[in-house]
Amino acid sequence: MAFHLLYLLCFIVLALLLCSTMAQTSKNISLGSSLTAQNDDNSSWPSPSGKFAFGFRQIEKDGFLLAIWFDKIPEKTIVWSANRDSLVPQGSKVELTSGRRFVLNDAKGSQIWSANSSSTGVSYAAMLDTGNFVLANRNSTYLWESFDHPTDTMLPTQSLQQSGKLFARFTVTNYSTGRFIFSLQPDGNLMLYTTNFPQDSANFAYWSVKNTEIGFQVIFNQSGLIYLTSENGTILNTISGNPIATQDFYQRATLDYDGVLRHYVYPKSSSTSEERWPMAWSTSSFIPPNISLSIVEKVGSGGCGFNSLYRVDNTCACPKGYSFIDPNDELKGCKQDFVPQSCNAPADDFDFQKVPNTNFPLLDYEQIQGSEDSCRQSCLEDCFCAVAIFNNASKCFKKGLPFKNAMLDSSDRGTIALVKFRKHNSTSKKKDDSILIIVGSVLLSSLGILNFILPLITYVVVSRMYSRKAVAVPPNYQGMNLKYFTYEELKEATREFKEELGHGASATVFKGVLACDEGKCVAVKILDAKQVRESDLEFNAEVRAIGRTNHRNLVQLLGYCNEEQHRILVYEFMSNGTLASFLFGETRPNWYQRRQIALGIARGLLYLHEECSNQIVHCDIKPQNILLDDSFTARISDFGLAKLLRLDQTRTITGIRGTKGYVAPEWFKNLPITAKVDVYSFGILLLEIICCRKKFDEEAEDQDQIILADWAYDCYKHKKLHLLLEKNDEAIKDVKMMEKYVMIAMWCIQENPSLRPTMKKTIHMLEGTVEVPKPPDQSLTSSILFDTAH
Ligand SMILES: *[C@@H]1O[C@H](CO)[C@@H](O)[C@H](O)[C@H]1NC(C)=O
Ligand SMILES: *[C@@H]1O[C@H](CO)[C@@H](O)[C@H](O)[C@H]1NC(C)=O
Ligand SMILES: *[C@@H]1O[C@H](CO)[C@@H](O)[C@H](O)[C@H]1NC(C)=O
Ligand SMILES: *[C@@H]1O[C@H](CO)[C@@H](O)[C@H](O)[C@H]1NC(C)=O
Ligand SMILES: *[C@@H]1O[C@H](CO)[C@@H](O)[C@H](O)[C@H]1NC(C)=O
Ligand SMILES: *[C@@H]1O[C@H](CO)[C@@H](O)[C@H](O)[C@H]1NC(C)=O
Ligand SMILES: *[C@@H]1O[C@H](CO)[C@@H](O)[C@H](O)[C@H]1NC(C)=O
Ligand SMILES: *[C@@H]1O[C@H](CO)[C@@H](O)[C@H](O)[C@H]1NC(C)=O
Ligand SMILES: *[C@@H]1O[C@H](CO)[C@@H](O)[C@H](O)[C@H]1NC(C)=O
Ligand SMILES: *[C@@H]1O[C@H](CO)[C@@H](O)[C@H](O)[C@H]1NC(C)=O
Repeated sequence: MAFHLLYLLCFIVLALLLCSTMAQTSKNISLGSSLTAQNDDNSSWPSPSGKFAFGFRQIEKDGFLLAIWFDKIPEKTIVWSANRDSLVPQGSKVELTSGRRFVLNDAKGSQIWSANSSSTGVSYAAMLDTGNFVLANRNSTYLWESFDHPTDTMLPTQSLQQSGKLFARFTVTNYSTGRFIFSLQPDGNLMLYTTNFPQDSANFAYWSVKNTEIGFQVIFNQSGLIYLTSENGTILNTISGNPIATQDFYQRATLDYDGVLRHYVYPKSSSTSEERWPMAWSTSSFIPPNISLSIVEKVGSGGCGFNSLYRVDNTCACPKGYSFIDPNDELKGCKQDFVPQSCNAPADDFDFQKVPNTNFPLLDYEQIQGSEDSCRQSCLEDCFCAVAIFNNASKCFKKGLPFKNAMLDSSDRGTIALVKFRKHNSTSKKKDDSILIIVGSVLLSSLGILNFILPLITYVVVSRMYSRKAVAVPPNYQGMNLKYFTYEELKEATREFKEELGHGASATVFKGVLACDEGKCVAVKILDAKQVRESDLEFNAEVRAIGRTNHRNLVQLLGYCNEEQHRILVYEFMSNGTLASFLFGETRPNWYQRRQIALGIARGLLYLHEECSNQIVHCDIKPQNILLDDSFTARISDFGLAKLLRLDQTRTITGIRGTKGYVAPEWFKNLPITAKVDVYSFGILLLEIICCRKKFDEEAEDQDQIILADWAYDCYKHKKLHLLLEKNDEAIKDVKMMEKYVMIAMWCIQENPSLRPTMKKTIHMLEGTVEVPKPPDQSLTSSILFDTAH
């Protein structure tokens, strides 16, 4: 027993001894002590319990930060640093000199930083368990404390006095001084403000405490509360009011690089960890409550950089067509990646990214009243306009570059931001290509008239392809980007014609992926060899004519194959399917989208008819032949195919029946076929677009409603256009415009081709630049054409 007691006593004495030596070595840092910044040398001065440590931290290859950090957690989170704006190289040294100064010198011996204490007499330094590093005199009076010189973080037991500031760091990984300040002003006001970065002068206060009494200090107390008090200790404002036990959690309040002051907690052991507090830093509270609603500056970029957007999760993002100037510094803003809009050219190439609940307050250069449409149009045609803000008070605010103050709009005005971007970021060379010389039309008489309207293939295409830069240009086809493919290549691209997208009487379409072109998706259309014109020369000539077309409302032909019996065309892939499935499917396009689509088709047709080097009459305009790209721009497909395919009378007759309704009367009357046949088909299509209804609906309740063209005319005549629209269609609100569109359609489907407008005139009417005259009475127009038999 005695032996045991003695043994125990010895043990206790030994343990006490050990403890005291440890405490001594770890606590008082005596004069002459130093630390040197060295790779792989993690020597530091820990606090007595090891919770914090003071020393060098390697931030970049040859850059060290003299810092204090939480030493017991794997993250080793830094809470203070001496030289945030000038990292020091390897070999730099911090020393408590025998001259009683505490200095950081770089490897060459020049002073980078020093702790300036007002009085002399430093006799030791110590890293305390609170996270405070102190210089003290013999009587243990602190002459200098890191707590009095905070960087971006406060710790429990630390306080911020008048004139005290926290400076956010620059980015997550860059500790240098950033753009936001938390400050208790000398006059006692507590606020968060942005700086005129890179200067640290105050710019805009985005959070502040309004109190009648003067703030004296901000206290982060032992119980984990953060509050502002007056001089006599009255609490004026609580910044973080949820007490969280400091014995169970590590805690800190950090002004983060994004301008939010967050109170973070970290369980000290897994036993205090729970679902709400995993073993990591979690935010217990923060100010301002919603930074996305807070920063609106007259001078400065706002919460994010210039030209950027706020995402909902409070980080910054660039709008479409823009990218970060510096991906490592998202707050620096975004740059435009596209060629800016020219003030003397048409605005066709531009579109808007619609960003809901977003505003860019201040700096409007123009304000107009009207619909979303007129707002879009006004900004589109205005080369100064980079962004338009539209709200349901029908106000449109136009803004130039750079736009700023991106913020979520929480008002109930349904504010949207329309950010302009270039649809096809063409180089100037490509632009020249598209300005094609208008050459006289080619007579179609050499072709069998009816062979055009073979039921052409419907295909759904599924991805996006703008850039054609990687497509090889065969030397003999100067100015064209058509690529010649071997049959083997296409077999490989389509994995042996595995995924069929659709087929028709004269072709089958497969999905393919081009290995030679960065894995881009294509639609590979295999023409039925029996129906293709026989001569190779003719085939190649026609394909090249198709390949020379280039318009944003056409599906681009990328290449072809003409090998033995194989006649294959390779097209870009359209991600949003056909207009048919869009118009008649579950989710119908809205009125604005429908009008854009109609205008797009009209523009594509105008190009084919008048603007490309050889006139192309499509002959088979119908919603199955209009595809939608990833921005829902209408793209006409299968143009020029009519000429490629061989006359086959019997098939053609069925063909007419198959596409019944889109076919102009001259086909039946031995009249010359001109571009006006496409105008006719466009008119029928336009009615379908207006009404989201098929041209022919056998299931219609009312006999009079079976043929859309007739019904539409009746509704127009009796001023009951709303009947044409399904319930809840916003086009009802725009009935004037809708009436105009119906009238245009009526003109397009005139039986007499010469009465039909040209596509150019049609576009002018659609755009509203010319009046739409009253269409002639046409009660007879469609009776012959729309026989109900299949
Ligand atoms: C310093 O820390 C690093 C990373 O934690 C480690 O790989 C290295 O071995 C340490 N060096 C010393 C001397 O302890
Ligand atoms: C300490 O004082 C020196 C000279 O008086 C000054 O250059 C230096 O910036 C001061 N350092 C700090 C951290 O205030
Ligand atoms: C640290 O130094 C001071 C002054 O020399 C002394 O009073 C104190 O006891 C020392 N503390 C420890 C833990 O050695
Ligand atoms: C330490 O305290 C003693 C008595 O309290 C005082 O006389 C002495 O001046 C103090 N020394 C320093 C360096 O403050
Ligand atoms: C941090 O950002 C500043 C300001 O842009 C820059 O000067 C400095 O080089 C950056 N530091 C690091 C380690 O990247
Ligand atoms: C911290 O502040 C709150 C509010 O004043 C107080 O109730 C609490 O006792 C304080 N905790 C400590 C450890 O001082
Ligand atoms: C503190 O001072 C204010 C006036 O400045 C007074 O109204 C308040 O009662 C005082 N509070 C305490 C605890 O003394
Ligand atoms: C757009 O075109 C410009 C000028 O040719 C070029 O600098 C930029 O990188 C292009 N952007 C994209 C996204 O292709
Ligand atoms: C900020 O406000 C927006 C809009 O009211 C909301 O969607 C978002 O969730 C809010 N964010 C926070 C952190 O409360
Ligand atoms: C805008 O719409 C919201 C609901 O969508 C409505 O509450 C608000 O009153 C509208 N504001 C105006 C000015 O029409």
